[in-house]
Amino acid sequence: MDWKTFLSAAKGLFPDDLFLIDAEDCLRYGSDWTKTAGTAGLVVRPRTTDEVSEVLKLCSQMKIPVVPSGGRTGLAGGAVARGELVLSFERMNRLSEVDIHGNTVRVQAGATTQAVHEHCAPQGLMWPIDLASKGSCEIGGNLSTNAGGLRVIRYGMARKWVVGLQAVTMAGEILELNRDLEKNNTGYDLIQLLIGSEGTLAVITEATLKLTRFPNHSWVMFFPFESPRATLDFFAEARRGPFEILAFEFFSKACLDIVSARLNRQSRLGHSSPFYALMEVEFPVGREDEVDQWLGMMLENRVVSDGLLAKSESEKDQVWGLREGITESIQATAPVKKYDVSVPVRKLAAFLEEVERALKQSGLGIELYLFGHLGDGSPHLNLVKPAISTMEQFNQDCAEFEKTIFVLLKSYGGSVSAEHGVGILKKHWLTVSRSPAEMRLFRDIKRVFDPQGLLNPGKVIDL
Ligand code: MLT
Ligand code: ZN
Repeated sequence: MDWKTFLSAAKGLFPDDLFLIDAEDCLRYGSDWTKTAGTAGLVVRPRTTDEVSEVLKLCSQMKIPVVPSGGRTGLAGGAVARGELVLSFERMNRLSEVDIHGNTVRVQAGATTQAVHEHCAPQGLMWPIDLASKGSCEIGGNLSTNAGGLRVIRYGMARKWVVGLQAVTMAGEILELNRDLEKNNTGYDLIQLLIGSEGTLAVITEATLKLTRFPNHSWVMFFPFESPRATLDFFAEARRGPFEILAFEFFSKACLDIVSARLNRQSRLGHSSPFYALMEVEFPVGREDEVDQWLGMMLENRVVSDGLLAKSESEKDQVWGLREGITESIQATAPVKKYDVSVPVRKLAAFLEEVERALKQSGLGIELYLFGHLGDGSPHLNLVKPAISTMEQFNQDCAEFEKTIFVLLKSYGGSVSAEHGVGILKKHWLTVSRSPAEMRLFRDIKRVFDPQGLLNPGKVIDL
């Protein structure tokens, strides 16, 4: 890219501090949590939507490719740059006053998820997307990847919690979509098209988020299980329990062991088990006895063999800490390849049994760490490098085993990306989950929004 020509064309049009040019300053903007190698050619840090629009106009005229960049906590490589101009939203983090009539809040794309939570909490309201990365990830990234997280079973994915969106096309046109109307049945839903498009169609600059009240009263339960099948059977029972399920997460012994070793967080169960489930439930105050009785019945009927009940905030945090520490503990221990897949919930145990069997039979040098959102049919398969394997061998083994995973997924009618998105890492496997007709429409839609192919090029689909 000829950055000198670009900068001289930009001179006088923008404040001087808009651009980061120095390679050292640009370094962290090139890659994300996948640790995929990346380089930002130049970084632009606008403060307003008008600046975003002017930058994109200039890039369009000069055919400069652009990578939109939020907190870069993505796990599919959607924000990885390969020499492009990186458009960072870190200065666009304004939060407007909470609208207590509409239960909404208008925020700029660079606001972190945690900042939004803290901003709304004094009104007794929350944006219910809860992610382990909430301190760093940004609303623009949450929406462009349609983030999921730990409470999808109760609240759904990010796309359910958006009323209005402001976005800028590659040509610099500002789209003001729906503002804050609760009802608006006027044609195609461009908001929902842009959500989850990973910055390939337009750049999200502001959003009006829908809010809800905090859960009534919640308890966290923690159970040991012999297998994913036993966990799934219990889940079916829990679906009929005297409460609303806020979260239903599972993880294997290997995950608990690595969290204990890395972060010194222990389960208070006192014995180990091949699998564990964490369930958070919500119920009205005064119904504690009913929930206690239900638990007693589960134990009596041997649906569960043991369990912990966390009622206080600190006890709940302690149990959640076991689940929330898994990703960082694995990342800090060994190279890992992550597969965020989904299958229909009822088929989850059968799918995982086949994956485990296939790995055992393959004789490949891979350790499998299983955890994820059982209640959403969305397990995270983490393939971890054993100490005795070389990096080259591990990469080869993963490439081999990845084929098995995706062939199995197809036969289960599953998806290659449940919540992390497609980015560059899942792009080549998109046809496992999408038909030729869908792929054709994807390309046609991309061409309509970005005919020159300059916006987040090479992500999600190739033209
Ligand atoms: C999670 O469920 O913890 C996140 O999706 C992150 C991950 O898969 O590692
Ligand atoms: Zn997840």
